[in-house]
Amino acid sequence: MTVPTSTNDGLLSFVSTRSLERKQVSFAGLPLPTSITKHKSPISLGGGRPHSGFFPVNKITLEVSSSPFNADTTEKVISKKDSKTLDITKGFQYGPTEGHPELISFAKSLINRVNEPGYEDWDLTLTNGTGDSLHKIFNLIINPGDVILIENYTYVPVISNIINYGGIVVPVELNFEKGGIDVGKFEKLLENWESGPYKHFKRPKGLYTIPTGQNPSGLTQSHEDRKKIYDLSSEYEFLIIEDDPYGYIQLSEYFDGDFNKFSTNDYSVDKYIEEDLPNSYIQYDTEGRVLRLESFSKIFAPGSRLGFIVGHAKFIKRIIDHANVSTRAPSGISQLIVNSVIEQFDGVDGWLNWNIQISEEYTARKNLLIKTLKSSESFKKGQFDIIEPKSGMFLSININFPNDDDDEEEDYRDQVEQLRYKALEQGVIVVLGKNFTTDESFAKKARFIRTTIATQDSDEEILEAGRRLSSAIKLYFESV
Ligand SMILES: Cc1ncc(COP(=O)(O)O)c(C=O)c1O
Repeated sequence: MTVPTSTNDGLLSFVSTRSLERKQVSFAGLPLPTSITKHKSPISLGGGRPHSGFFPVNKITLEVSSSPFNADTTEKVISKKDSKTLDITKGFQYGPTEGHPELISFAKSLINRVNEPGYEDWDLTLTNGTGDSLHKIFNLIINPGDVILIENYTYVPVISNIINYGGIVVPVELNFEKGGIDVGKFEKLLENWESGPYKHFKRPKGLYTIPTGQNPSGLTQSHEDRKKIYDLSSEYEFLIIEDDPYGYIQLSEYFDGDFNKFSTNDYSVDKYIEEDLPNSYIQYDTEGRVLRLESFSKIFAPGSRLGFIVGHAKFIKRIIDHANVSTRAPSGISQLIVNSVIEQFDGVDGWLNWNIQISEEYTARKNLLIKTLKSSESFKKGQFDIIEPKSGMFLSININFPNDDDDEEEDYRDQVEQLRYKALEQGVIVVLGKNFTTDESFAKKARFIRTTIATQDSDEEILEAGRRLSSAIKLYFESV
């Protein structure tokens, strides 16, 4: 099979005037005239890069965990000078804006192994995490008045990000039964844009989506629907901004509470890739219209402040130009530590194996919470439904309020707030779905609460949280 090469010069029509007009200014000097032959080994009296002897660290020893929550470790020594890899001398120094070659090379191998784009001229740049990636992408594409579609409940900082650049957000509905964006409604919205509720706005320039383990709903879009959404992006000429911080955390389906496919002996990295990891939109992409965002926050550590953007080389170049005049390269010290741990795991497959182990732990936690909730009196009385996630760290609960007669006009905001108070009185913190939208009509309809299985210290804490939450729901129902 030949991989198509994108020839779509129209991609530049998605670029904002701000980005098109950005100029790079450098004090490094003009390129040498051909008549000048440069000395083979010049001594620098030029750039202000401190000699590594000024760095106060000579050696770093990492105790790398063999698996999550496991005290067993292996030792990785990071030396000051090691020409074979990213060492202290390079990691502590100013580095390339797009990131150190060692980590870039890892990220490219990971993409090739798991989510290979459908065209050749793609590229990748490291960033200071997805928050930074999003800021740079909206800087790249938004001119005032441009429309970005977002899921009706979403990671809300994105909304401010879009609005700050003069963009307009238009919500598209999630389908809580099927998982992900409701493709039927989405297609109708695009088909009838000029006669629909947003006819006074331009047609959308982009779709921002969290297709896997969505925040806040925990939903995951099916492969079939992803392909349809990609086809719609091609038909209606918009970009897809795929935010995927949770995608590597896969959850095996709940059966009796104990089954965990990641613990089975014949589970492997190949199975993880072929059977479990959802396809990225970038795999369907033959035109360079997908920007894929990955983050090390949930699978390494949020404090790493590291992520990367994969997309068409034309977009990536402009994002790097922006970084040159804003954040510059992500922390070299952070890159050094992340890269060394990945080396200790033995590269891409070892890293994926770490992600499988994370998935195993999250699955156990999810099963425990579901088992506790299902055994509660409140659940048995039908007071709530569990929206079982296939990926990620969020599990949503839909409250079947006593007055719920599927009235489209019903406003649940006060009721969910009262329920939250009951939960706090019972000793459990949850987040309300209504807080993940700025659209009043969707805030009114939000009957769900978001819980996470990421933070608890022990199984006992998860069990207790489930008991407290279900008793809060029961007490709420008794109080109304
Ligand atoms: C959907 C989504 N995108 C991005 C982020 C932030 O990621 P990062 O830590 O890489 O900036 C989060 C964090 O919670 C998130 O839920």
